[in-house]
Amino acid sequence: MSLKGKIALITGGSRGIGKSIALRLAKAGASIVILDRVIQNETVEELQSLGVKAMGVEASVTDFSSVEKAVEKVLESFSTIDIVVNNAGITRDNLFLRMKQEEWDSVIAVNLTGAFNVCKAVNRQLFKQRAGKIVNIASVVGQMGNIGQANYAASKAGLIGLTKTLAREFAARNIQVNAVAPGFINTEMTAKLPADVKEYFIKNIPAGTFGSPEDVANAVAFLVSDEANYITGQVINVDGGMFM
Ligand code: NAI
Repeated sequence: MSLKGKIALITGGSRGIGKSIALRLAKAGASIVILDRVIQNETVEELQSLGVKAMGVEASVTDFSSVEKAVEKVLESFSTIDIVVNNAGITRDNLFLRMKQEEWDSVIAVNLTGAFNVCKAVNRQLFKQRAGKIVNIASVVGQMGNIGQANYAASKAGLIGLTKTLAREFAARNIQVNAVAPGFINTEMTAKLPADVKEYFIKNIPAGTFGSPEDVANAVAFLVSDEANYITGQVINVDGGMFM
């Protein structure tokens, strides 16, 4: 699967799953723009060392005007945007009884409104090109629910609804919109979970292990390639069989 000549914008690409996606798409030949609240220069240098163009743009996906400015900056440097991966996400876990308004609002703002903002900021350009791929990083939790994650589950279920609606609205313009729903992936986000919670999860994963960020990145690489041109509005689970 070659992505030579393609420009990919990846939110939250500084570390974790987003970084793996950036590296994977770069290995397939794409130029990479990372949009993150905090740009880690080592990530940009690692991408450049693969022989592709790479840049970091510091912005929060929650702030539409900075996302718009970031997209303008990308277009000044590259003139097209072919691939958009909405990966930036946060958790603020708490049982619903104790969940504070701020915990609800902040998770919805990053995980759901953030993707809305990015899609809004790029849609005119994608329409003009009459081509493009959007992949939204959802979660099995958006399909199954999860104790302590009412905010996160709602944001990811919302992201799946956004994916399917944009897939319908954008299909005639040759823009494919899909979601990848990871299960339990070893990253900094999940490293902070208590051991008993991890044990509970592993019992419910048919594959018997947690996934790696590379597992998620491989699915994204397929969905943004020309080989996936007839796939749109789908949720591809990368979860070792956790949700089926
Ligand atoms: P992470 O916490 O390691 O990385 C998230 C990245 O997003 C960071 O670089 C962070 O700076 C960036 N970010 C956070 N808020 C931002 C904002 N407002 N604007 C721009 N960038 C922002 O997380 P991880 O584990 O790599 O997760 C990536 C995505 O995958 C998230 O959407 C997460 O919900 C999803 N996911 C992760 C799973 C896991 O097991 N780790 C499972 C299912 C989904």
